[in-house]
Amino acid sequence: MHKDLEEIILHEAEIEQRVKELGDAIAKDYKCQEPLLICILRGAVIFFADLCRAIDIPVQMGFVSLSSYKDGTSSTGNVEERQKLMADVKGKAVILVEDIIDTGLTLKDYSQNLLDRGAESVEICCLLKKPEQVHNVDVQYQGFDIENRFVVGYGLDYAEQYRNLPYVGILKKEIYS
Ligand code: IMP
Repeated sequence: MHKDLEEIILHEAEIEQRVKELGDAIAKDYKCQEPLLICILRGAVIFFADLCRAIDIPVQMGFVSLSSYKDGTSSTGNVEERQKLMADVKGKAVILVEDIIDTGLTLKDYSQNLLDRGAESVEICCLLKKPEQVHNVDVQYQGFDIENRFVVGYGLDYAEQYRNLPYVGILKKEIYS
């Protein structure tokens, strides 16, 4: 285990198993369509790469970077594309792939944005969900519920570190306080 972690909460094998189940569920639900999977950069990138390969039907891929917290402490209620989505969503069955849902603001706003741009449907697939969700978002595909602690690894970072850890763990408080 990395020395900056308090505890590993999800080991590689558990993640691999759950990602496979999510991939199977998506392949079953979308067998007559070719969904556009949108990776929300950068935190979802590892999950996205594994998930895409666990889906046994043709898929399209898109990438976007979003920002929802303008002053660093409170949300503005507005989500902005920091790196624009290059894919055309018109008429597409979109699946937004996210690393973690905390308040739910990012996905709530962005899902609506894609529907306004003509997406046929927008569903959400996230690896982790915290319990404090204040914005009501329907999550169609979810990996794990976790407690309200700051976690890193498997794509999730603190100050751009720890993304490449193959597991998810709780970061020691002394590292960020
Ligand atoms: P939301 O809009 O409040 O749901 O924010 C979700 C975003 O907050 C995620 O995409 C992450 O970038 C970030 N985030 C929330 N909790 C954590 C965490 O425990 N570790 C790392 N990033 C987190």
